[in-house]
Amino acid sequence: MESLFSEIDHVAIAVHDLEAAIAWYEEVFGATVEHREVVESDGVAEALLRVADSYIQLLTPTRDDSPVAKYLAKRGEGLHHVGYRVRDCAVALESVKASGGRVIDQAPRPGSRGTTVAFIHPATSFGTLIELVEDSH
Ligand code: CO
Repeated sequence: MESLFSEIDHVAIAVHDLEAAIAWYEEVFGATVEHREVVESDGVAEALLRVADSYIQLLTPTRDDSPVAKYLAKRGEGLHHVGYRVRDCAVALESVKASGGRVIDQAPRPGSRGTTVAFIHPATSFGTLIELVEDSH
């Protein structure tokens, strides 16, 4: 089977203080923010720092009932999910479902940066929340 993954799109890290986290990555690693976005539907503010053809995605909640707020309360700061780039999000999602994988999104939906995304539940992916990311740019 040919791999559905073409690249690691981003590694997402949940933080309490987005500005402090950005400053740390800038000062320690010389990383620079390429994109910032508030995704109201997910209740998150994010900053993307480019690493080669991938990103570090720093995530912070914008409201108390967002999934990232609940994650921070339960697990604390740290690795939240890994986004894998795929050529076709719908095809990759169907492949996961056909293989018995538990999904959070039954169908692809809009992500940040104009991408199309779907999340796979960590229960059937060995503890890692996985995001399938189709970037048609
Ligand atoms: Co993501």
